[in-house]
Amino acid sequence: MTDTAPIRALALLGSLRAKSVNRMLLDAALAQLPEGLVLTEAKGRDARPHFNQDIEDAGEPPAVAAFKAALAGAQAVLVVSPEYNAGPPSVLKNAIDWGSRGANPWRGMPVALMSASPGALGGARLQAQLRASFSGLGAMVLPGPDVLVGQAATRFDAEGRLTDAATLKLVAGHLARLRDLARALGR
Ligand code: FNR
Repeated sequence: MTDTAPIRALALLGSLRAKSVNRMLLDAALAQLPEGLVLTEAKGRDARPHFNQDIEDAGEPPAVAAFKAALAGAQAVLVVSPEYNAGPPSVLKNAIDWGSRGANPWRGMPVALMSASPGALGGARLQAQLRASFSGLGAMVLPGPDVLVGQAATRFDAEGRLTDAATLKLVAGHLARLRDLARALGR
């Protein structure tokens, strides 16, 4: 692989909601990918059972095996998620936990965080918790400027398109820096 080959990144979405503002934020990222970055959304968010070591011991369910294969094949990860009660939604934490088992593909993985919320903080406490978890796993979380999309209702139009110019620029910059970090790490 040369350093000009596109970086293959996997996107994890932390919301199951049809009209999710974080879905809209991920769509905004997908709509303005920088040159050299390919972003594919992980499938089966709600197909994975709650992590249970008994299930793991009995043999990984297909949805888990597929997710772990996608994670192992990724050169970078983008997490886009709401904050629930100052931390990660269970669907996101479940993905992190299943993914951490076995060979731990999180180790050395460049990870970018983005979050949107109707509240003022935009998911700042979620991102702090995710940084702690990913640090424990050996992942390389992109430093700031953080993509914290607070007061989300003011930043998207009625069709769910991100229209706030400053946020669009922040998202574009974060994606480019994720690509650059993955390249710098020789992924
Ligand atoms: C929330 N919400 C929320 N928001 C926030 O900024 N900080 C928080 O701690 C919480 N806690 C929380 C807990 C639970 C159980 C729910 C359902 C919601 C509000 C949340 O940001 C809002 O519902 C978002 O719209 C959820 O994101 P999606 O699904 O629209 O992407």
